[in-house]
Amino acid sequence: MPDLQSVLDEIATDLKTASERGAVASYIPELAKVDPGQFGIAVLTPDGVVHSAGDANVAFSIQSISKVFTLTLALGQVGDILWNRVGREPSGNPFNSIVQLEYEHGIPRNPLINAGALVVTDVILAGYKPREAIGLILSFMRSLAGDDSIIIDVDVARSEEETGFRNRALANYMKAYDNIRHPVEMTTGVYFHQCAIAMSCRQLAVAGSFLAGQGRHPLTGNKVVSAERARRINAVMLTCGHYDGSGEFAFRVGIPGKSGVGGGILAIVPGKASIAVWSPGLNKVGNSLLGSRALERLAKAMDWSIF
Ligand code: DON
Repeated sequence: MPDLQSVLDEIATDLKTASERGAVASYIPELAKVDPGQFGIAVLTPDGVVHSAGDANVAFSIQSISKVFTLTLALGQVGDILWNRVGREPSGNPFNSIVQLEYEHGIPRNPLINAGALVVTDVILAGYKPREAIGLILSFMRSLAGDDSIIIDVDVARSEEETGFRNRALANYMKAYDNIRHPVEMTTGVYFHQCAIAMSCRQLAVAGSFLAGQGRHPLTGNKVVSAERARRINAVMLTCGHYDGSGEFAFRVGIPGKSGVGGGILAIVPGKASIAVWSPGLNKVGNSLLGSRALERLAKAMDWSIF
C-alpha cells in the first residue's frame, strides 16, 4: 500500500496549480468572493492521526455538508420516525429542485437535497427558538471536531438570507403539505446559518470520523450513533450526497460523500478513513471539480473504493 502522506502531497501539488478549476458558486454572492486557487485535503485514519496537504487548515463555508450532521442530530432527536417526513431515494435532480415536491405530496426525496434538509432542520427546531437550534448545531460541530473555535460566517449567512428565494419557495411549498411545521422564515433562517458554518478540511475530517468508525468517534471514543445508523447515513451519502452527480461520484470514486457549494466534500471510507477535501471551483452539477478529482485519485491509489 502506498504511503498516504506521499499520495496526499502528490495530489495537492498537482491540483494546486491545475488550470481547469471549475467555477465558484455565484448565486450566494459572498461565496463568489472566494479565491478559486485554493486546494486542501485532510484524512483521519482509525489510529487517530490526521494526514493533510495543501490548504487543509483554511476555513471554508461547509454549506450542504452540514446536512449530514443535521441528519445525524435529527435522527438522534426523533429516531426513525424522521423517515415519515423525508425519503431515502436519490432525486436525479439538482440540489435546489422543486419539481418532485408536487408529484410526491411535499415529501422530499432525501435529506441531502435542499428540500429534505429543510425538513430535517424543521425537525431539529421543534422545542427550540431559532437561535437555540443554531447554537445546538454549532455545538454539535464543535464537539465532533474537538474545536470550540469553529464559527458561523455571518457574512455568508446574511448573503444566503438575502438571496435564498428558492429555499423559501421549497419551504413554503412543503408547508402547504404540513411538512414544514414552523414559520418558513424560522426554518430557513436556521438552515442558512448551518450552511454558513466555516470549517477547515482538518476540522471536517475529524468531525465526520464517527461515520468511518461504525458510529464511534476515534479521538474521543464517544459513540455518536449506533453502527447501524452510521451505515445508513453512509448509504444515503453514497446514493444522494452529490445530487444528480451521485451516480458519477459512486462510479468514479466509490465511497460515500457529501458535497457543498463552498467547494468542500466529506467522504467516508468505512473502517478506514474520514476524508475532507476542498477546492472552491464547482462542476456543472455544483460539486467541487478538483475535490472530486482528488478523491478519485486518492481512492484509486489507496484502493479505498467500497466496491
Ligand atoms: O441552500 C443552498 O442552496 C446552499 N446553502 C447549499 C447548497 C449546497 O451546498 C449544494 N451542494 N453542492
